[in-house]
Amino acid sequence: MGLQNSKKLFSDAIKNNYAIGAFNFVNLETLSAILDAATELNSPVIVQCSTGAIKYAGIEAIEAMVKAKTKNLQVILNLDHGKTFEDCKNAVDHGFTNVMIDASHLSFEENIALTKQVVEYAHSKGVTVEAELGVLAGVEDEVSASADDAKYTNPLQAKEFVERTGVDSLAIAIGTSHGTHKFSGEAKLRFDILSEIEKQLPNFPLVLHGASSIPQNMVKLAEQYGATLKGANGIPEEMLREATTKHNVVKVNVDSDLRISFTAGVREILTTKPETVDMREYLKQGKKYVTEVVKNKMTTVFNSANKA
Ligand code: G3H
Ligand code: 13P
Ligand code: ZN
Repeated sequence: MGLQNSKKLFSDAIKNNYAIGAFNFVNLETLSAILDAATELNSPVIVQCSTGAIKYAGIEAIEAMVKAKTKNLQVILNLDHGKTFEDCKNAVDHGFTNVMIDASHLSFEENIALTKQVVEYAHSKGVTVEAELGVLAGVEDEVSASADDAKYTNPLQAKEFVERTGVDSLAIAIGTSHGTHKFSGEAKLRFDILSEIEKQLPNFPLVLHGASSIPQNMVKLAEQYGATLKGANGIPEEMLREATTKHNVVKVNVDSDLRISFTAGVREILTTKPETVDMREYLKQGKKYVTEVVKNKMTTVFNSANKA
């Protein structure tokens, strides 16, 4: 119970064919919304902050909030997309139980060297490490591209990478991408590459970034109250189910779905109650929709309810 590293939960998820949602938060409202869903469903959960979220909220505040709210839950606190050794060390030193070093934009050898340095420090403190091989389209390559341009993970390199770094989980590129607009044409994931990676790395925990489904009911609600999200689309839920139940994808990253739902709730109240200046009224509605979306993922996509 409580905060923990990824070891026990990932091996249980692989054995029992479920996945653990990794949800981004940036403040008390988004953190509480995610943890409310985990509590109601008795589900393990990963809560994660990007370096941008840490800059926004402050790492001491994040550490205190998460510690205070997770005592009776199975929770991993993850640093999302750490770019440097210092980013990861800072997170380890402030109670994060898993850190991601994202050196996927560097050369293979440089990625190995930096990941290894993070693994050595994190493991010495009992913290597990996620790394990434392959490049997702979108924010990671700093161009506005669709998933069609992704540089997929090379399965043979994946095996060598894991062996040489000692990393605990690996984020792979098979066609997902960050953000609210993922496919210009038909949605497509490279399950053939995923299977090849698994042949090279049997029973090894794999991670999917950029895995929001962009729920159209929330898109419509946000648009009804003034958001402009034309053409927003995500990874179809049945593809995520395939990746998590038939393959070793045990961590699925979701941020955009929560951003859209929270925004929808806030916009709704600001529009329907223009007289309100009580922040709690509209934040509460944003929170409510985030909890709904997270609960839906846990039950219908990740199959993680009652696994805590
Ligand atoms: O993968 C990126 C996450 O969605 C976090 O985004 O850096 O804007 O907080 P952010
Ligand atoms: P989405 O933009 O698909 O929510 O991806 C989030 C993510 O990968 C965070 O690391
Ligand atoms: Zn990501």
